[in-house]
Amino acid sequence: MSAGGKKTACVTGGNGYIASALIKMLLEKGYTVKTTVRNPDDMSKNSHLKELKALSPLEVFRADLDEEGSFDEALAGCDYAFLVAAPMNLRCENQEQELIQPAVRGTLNVMRSCVKAGTVKRVILTSSMASTVSLQLQADGHVFDEDCWSDVEFLVANKPPMWGYPVSKVLLEKEACKFAAEYGMSLVTVCPVLTVGAAPARKIHTSVPASLSLLSGDEAAFGVLKGTEMSTGVVPMVHVADLCRAEMFVAEEAAAAGRYICCSVNTTIAEIARVLGDKCPQYGVKTNLLSGELLEKPRACLSSSKLVREGFVYKYKTVDEIYGDVVEYGKALGILPN
Ligand SMILES: NC(=O)c1ccc[n+]([C@@H]2O[C@H](COP(=O)([O-])OP(=O)(O)OC[C@H]3O[C@@H](n4cnc5c(N)ncnc54)[C@H](OP(=O)(O)O)[C@@H]3O)[C@@H](O)[C@H]2O)c1
Repeated sequence: MSAGGKKTACVTGGNGYIASALIKMLLEKGYTVKTTVRNPDDMSKNSHLKELKALSPLEVFRADLDEEGSFDEALAGCDYAFLVAAPMNLRCENQEQELIQPAVRGTLNVMRSCVKAGTVKRVILTSSMASTVSLQLQADGHVFDEDCWSDVEFLVANKPPMWGYPVSKVLLEKEACKFAAEYGMSLVTVCPVLTVGAAPARKIHTSVPASLSLLSGDEAAFGVLKGTEMSTGVVPMVHVADLCRAEMFVAEEAAAAGRYICCSVNTTIAEIARVLGDKCPQYGVKTNLLSGELLEKPRACLSSSKLVREGFVYKYKTVDEIYGDVVEYGKALGILPN
């Protein structure tokens, strides 16, 4: 707890999409925030952090997941540690060495810094739906909940596209859990689905381009939506503001424990196309992307019942609401023309 009774939170990877939104929300709620970036001098990635300093105390530290002990200073004196930074080079050549191993090692590296700090009351680990949904077979109507784990053996044996990402998330969650049990740490894991909405960060490579791909016509980004629907039978979504509220909820609720899927809408590409077609006639949905097999209704769903049962209330509950501010954000980022 910092001077004046304010709670202090560390958020790793402050130039990232989700972390930037979480930092803003924590500052707005009166937290003192410490964040890390790999290169504090790179203003093309960090200018939003300078602006956020106007809200409440925010300190920026240099830290790299690959460097043992580099998070020590950022975590010193913190009440909460939000582990958001993670390797996101999902298309790298050597998935084992460039993605899986660094993700697991980096998570444990930050957790060791939490132990050294001696003040961290809870670690909130941001994992992904990817740790949960990559299964070999699933029947129609399948409900994915916190008891589901992606099938690492199947993924390693068959190496479907970007197989390293779900494997990294399963392994880092399990290793983090073991570490927390060994050191008596309180660890809560959030598994977000495709996250959509405006955030302070100004360079975004992950879900925002994917969510806008039907308007931008970016085929590679559309591949994320298509791949999700084809492999899981659903496109699950959450607004970034709801995700950040959920992260804070599980940090502050004393009884929160284990994993939490964070998902407010289970939809399909066809439904997203209909909503965007009505909402954004100026761009028009790129119908060439819609060729081939598309689902009319989701064949599966990701259940956020645990989070809701424990008292969390989503604010953005429809595709239309989730897409409320992301089109403007996409324009500001240069993903969509003005
Ligand atoms: N966006 C989604 O829809 C979604 C859904 C489910 C889960 N998630 C999870 O949420 C987290 C954040 O995702 P995001 O969408 O916000 O991605 P993002 O914008 O790419 O943020 C990733 C952050 O991790 C940092 N990072 C990567 N490698 C690092 C390293 N070796 N050392 C220190 N920092 C490193 C990046 O810093 P640099 O800029 O220096 O690379 C960046 O700040 C990830 O764990 C992701 O798996 C995201």
